[in-house]
Amino acid sequence: MSDTTPDPRPQPSEAPPRDRLGRQPRDLRISVTDRCNFRCTYCMPAEIFGRDYAFLPRSQILTYEEIVRLAAIFVRLGVEKLRITGGEPTVRRDLPDLVRPLAAIEGVRDLTLTTNGSALRTLAAPLAGAGLRRITVSLDSLDDAVFRAMSGADMPLARVLDGIVAAREAGLAPVKINMVVKRGSNEASIVPMARWARDAGLILRYIEYMDVGTTNGWRMDDVVPWAEIVALVDAAFPLEALPPNYPGEVATRFRYRDGAGEIGVIASVTAPFCGACTRARLSAEGELFTCLFAARGTDLRAPLRAGADDAELEARIRAVWGARDDRYSDVRSAGTANLPRVEMFAIGG
Ligand code: GTP
Ligand code: 5AD
Ligand code: SF4
Ligand code: SF4
Repeated sequence: MSDTTPDPRPQPSEAPPRDRLGRQPRDLRISVTDRCNFRCTYCMPAEIFGRDYAFLPRSQILTYEEIVRLAAIFVRLGVEKLRITGGEPTVRRDLPDLVRPLAAIEGVRDLTLTTNGSALRTLAAPLAGAGLRRITVSLDSLDDAVFRAMSGADMPLARVLDGIVAAREAGLAPVKINMVVKRGSNEASIVPMARWARDAGLILRYIEYMDVGTTNGWRMDDVVPWAEIVALVDAAFPLEALPPNYPGEVATRFRYRDGAGEIGVIASVTAPFCGACTRARLSAEGELFTCLFAARGTDLRAPLRAGADDAELEARIRAVWGARDDRYSDVRSAGTANLPRVEMFAIGG
């Protein structure tokens, strides 16, 4: 091609894209598998996700090279924070081999992972060694029976607790704990979890049970509103509000008045935060989702495997982001309850 012939391919422009509500992409959540060794009632109920359930075959899942290539394009578009999710990301082999190149992408300011903690005893150190900086572990109760009932885990709670210790020993900091609160299941664990996390120096975040996916039979009555959670914790250990760490932070933060750390509440049902939603989600099979509640994503794997160059992939991502007008949690109503949508484990929450 001569200097005077315009390049016919889509050209990346410099400015980060903005969606129709003016939001820029800042976070990319990367699902590396749709499989999980747990069966949380609110995510993958065991009666639906049994032995016969067809998870994605390996050939349909992005390779680590493909993930890294796409992640680098997102970083060029302004993404600064990468989060590895699943399903359960640690069930995918050789996860440190993904962390290493992601950590090396210039412009990545934050690289973290959400896990159920079951594999951390062996994986925490290799993940930290590969460049993972911090970690979030999902844990809904310290009562073994409640833990097993909610997570469907075929292992004792002690294994997850041991994994959390391993994460701290490996230098992953901070370690955050995600606790989904579901009425009638684990309200009694709200204060004990706060006590434990305070004593252990962990940042506990309470998550309002959400109507994600189509299989958990969500009802508004099962949601424990954030204000109720905070009132319970405050009565045991007095709290005061904290400002966000960064604009658009999902968790609303509080600190203990006695200085023993902080908690967060993720109130996507009773206090939605779509206005500042800067999250893009890449599914294990390479679909780009612009909302946790979207029915469909946009396939990036097909162009990737057909040989598209980075400029073409970037143009495709820009077009999807530019058309984005998602604000599901802001407009949630009885009418939205039965809309089709992606399963949580397919895009990692
Ligand atoms: P930090 O970077 O540590 O602040 O974490 P984060 O805010 O990215 O939180 P994390 O990834 O641990 O998300 C916690 C939970 O909040 C998720 O698992 C979801 O349940 C919920 N959540 C996160 N992002 C969104 C979102 O964009 N919309 C909704 N509705 N819920 C979200
Ligand atoms: N509501 C709220 N949080 C959920 N998670 C999974 N399903 C739900 C739901 N229905 C959380 C998990 C984990 C993260 C990936 O998403 O507990 O912390
Ligand atoms: Fe597995 Fe996490 Fe879903 Fe629980 S919430 S079933 S640990 S992917
Ligand atoms: Fe973002 Fe969709 Fe969650 Fe709103 S509901 S915060 S648009 S992912």
